[in-house]
Amino acid sequence: MIVGVEIRPEGVEEYCEQHTTPLTELHARLAKTTEENTRTPNYLVGPLEGSFLKLLVRLCQAKRILEVGTFAGYSALSFAEALPADGSIVTCELDPNAIEIARRFFAQSPHAKKIEIREGRAADTLKNLQGPFDPCFIDADKPSYDYYYDRCLELVRQGGLIVLDNMLRYGRVLNPTDEDARIVNALNARIHNDPRVENVLLPFRDGIMLAYKL
Ligand SMILES: C[S@@+](CC[C@H](N)C(=O)[O-])C[C@H]1O[C@@H](n2cnc3c(N)ncnc32)[C@H](O)[C@@H]1O
Repeated sequence: MIVGVEIRPEGVEEYCEQHTTPLTELHARLAKTTEENTRTPNYLVGPLEGSFLKLLVRLCQAKRILEVGTFAGYSALSFAEALPADGSIVTCELDPNAIEIARRFFAQSPHAKKIEIREGRAADTLKNLQGPFDPCFIDADKPSYDYYYDRCLELVRQGGLIVLDNMLRYGRVLNPTDEDARIVNALNARIHNDPRVENVLLPFRDGIMLAYKL
């Protein structure tokens, strides 16, 4: 990189959004409700990543998806829209306020019947699930990411994809000084050296790790 030259000049993300197939009007309303009713509206993946995840589901020809971290349901809705009529998502969440919003919006979607929320600690839910899933999307508490990755590797089908969000911690993985950045940095190295997967770490939003189970 040339010193002083931004990799992503201001406005590029908006430009990408404007040149990407948009999500639905339900997504826009969900984002607004999340903004007004939660303290963490930045949790949801947003329009660009949502469209990316949706396309990924189409490319995988996914039938059964596992999501760790529902929040208000934005990414789950993106997945659901790309699934075939007999497809399904199991999505894990422990925050009752987030679950209430998610349920309210799922009920307004023609894809509602594809989505099953499992309430409680995701680690407990994952323990009792049976695979195969494809893809598995990990987007929850960072201290549990190691467990989620290992368990998802058991649950994902061979030739399936694990997608991990927030794998750059807004650049803090380069020089980790906080606990989450240290955990994510160590996990990036572990995935990169894991002979069971082929991986790519995308510098897209806060970093998306794709790990393909060989
Ligand atoms: C970044 S948000 C998920 C955003 C969501 N994927 C989206 O794009 O709309 C992370 C979520 O994980 C949930 N979470 C944190 N720790 C959890 C745990 N141990 N078990 C289940 N959910 C957890 C949080 O309550 C939060 O709603």
